[in-house]
Amino acid sequence: MLTSTLGKKLLMSLTGLFLISFLTIHLIGNLAIFSNDGGLAFNAYASFMSTNPLIGTVSYLLYAGIILHVFIAVVLYFVNNSARPVKYKVQKLKENSSWESRSMTLLGVLILAFILLHLKDFWWQYKHDGGYQFVEDANGNRNIYALVIEQFKTPFALVTYLIGLVALFFHLKHGFQSAFQTLGLEHHKYTPAINAIGVIYSIIVPLGFALMPVFVFFFK
Ligand code: HEM
Repeated sequence: MLTSTLGKKLLMSLTGLFLISFLTIHLIGNLAIFSNDGGLAFNAYASFMSTNPLIGTVSYLLYAGIILHVFIAVVLYFVNNSARPVKYKVQKLKENSSWESRSMTLLGVLILAFILLHLKDFWWQYKHDGGYQFVEDANGNRNIYALVIEQFKTPFALVTYLIGLVALFFHLKHGFQSAFQTLGLEHHKYTPAINAIGVIYSIIVPLGFALMPVFVFFFK
């Protein structure tokens, strides 16, 4: 599958859709940050996610999904560049495609940088005792909520998260409809609806995540 360009694009679409499903669950779980309970619901969600054995197994699929998605993107980038020794005229490209479709690699690099920073700040601290001293909350869960609040209070986190989430918006906007196109799920009646759902999803998910650092920075 990895040897043909179509095979690579199929894997890109499948891993992309898998990552989209993770984002949806992550967003819904993180909404607990808005509940006015000092972080009890947020910590309970984080604790469930990291102790449930089934979710633990799915997490490994998630890490593999991210690595595979990035790996194929890099391969496709070099294949596309070597197959196109004479660059298209910029004007022609602009007429035929959206800015985000021409910028998927750049957007992907920004999102990858965002994810690495995010994992360093939260996931590494939480799962690997990265030096942060957790004080348990009233329910005996590690108080990762306190760490999230501490991080999101800094202008650096606010700005980097907003940049990452704008990149995510454009990446999803093109990626969603492109995945369905690659999978051959094109239909004169349903494709406009799928594209509309894609655009709505691309707005709601990054916006939902963006509200979290904004809420903490300005209102906590
Ligand atoms: C802006 C609001 C966000 C908050 C408050 C947040 C919070 C967290 C926390 C506390 C963890 C570590 C604990 C756990 O595994 O549950 C985590 C893990 C993670 N986050 Fe986020 N996150 C946010 C946005 C994002 C976004 C936009 C992405 C991807 C683009 C993302 C990707 C991940 C990944 C891949 C993990 C590791 C999951 C695992 O180990 O199963 N997060 N997040």
